[in-house]
Amino acid sequence: MALFSGAAAEFWMRYIHYVFGILWIGHLYYFNFSQMPFMAETDAPTKSQVFQKLTPKTMFWFRWGAMLTFLSGWSMILHKAGLGVPMSSGWGTMILSGGIIGTLMFLNVWLIIWPSNKMAIENATRVAKGESAIPGVADLMARAAIASRTNTMFSMPMLFFMGGASHIPLNLSPEKSLVPYWATFAFVIGLIELNAIKGKMGPLQKLVAAIHLGLALTLALYLAMEFLAG
Ligand code: HEM
Repeated sequence: MALFSGAAAEFWMRYIHYVFGILWIGHLYYFNFSQMPFMAETDAPTKSQVFQKLTPKTMFWFRWGAMLTFLSGWSMILHKAGLGVPMSSGWGTMILSGGIIGTLMFLNVWLIIWPSNKMAIENATRVAKGESAIPGVADLMARAAIASRTNTMFSMPMLFFMGGASHIPLNLSPEKSLVPYWATFAFVIGLIELNAIKGKMGPLQKLVAAIHLGLALTLALYLAMEFLAG
């Protein structure tokens, strides 16, 4: 049976990638589309219940979904590279663009969003027991919100390049260097990531703005790819 032959191994990795990608980005969109607006209008006792009872569950699936998407994604890239598919091809340039943005999103989950939420869970549990609150939790959660909105914006170009790698017929010109494209990519994506780590919420406060900025970023990167390397 074709599905169980060695040749289908890559397909199984792909299937795992889709399932965990949905688990991860499904939770990301739930947080940004539904839970953040709910938390903004709800009372303190309900918020405490959310942190104590709901957040441990959502954060579990969210962070492990991110981990398995990340691991399955890079195994596919390494597998293709091992088969000799050049990373400087149209496919390679697109999948690396999507994969690098996805990797930054994964790091935002594990290094910013999860540690902040872990503290918020701990804080709500302590306060419910009548113990003193942990100082600085509100600031940590504000940083987590900026990282989460950045990830929502990043999800737009990330998915575009992920899906586009095999489905957009991009032909890169062999005589053009990829350096101008990658320099532009590193500058733009690096500045946005720096803002997630140290900067302000700014226009990302509004979900619709985060989505529009994500779409504009997608178009800008795609045009940079076509004009600088195509
Ligand atoms: C975290 C870093 C990620 C890496 C390194 C990565 C890498 C990859 C690779 C190598 C492929 C195969 C592409 C092809 O054969 O053309 C792929 C496909 C795909 N990835 Fe990711 N990915 C990542 C994150 C995500 C996330 C978060 C999602 C969200 C759902 C996602 C959704 C998809 C989809 C839908 C495809 C199928 C594209 C197709 O069949 O044409 N990926 N990814």
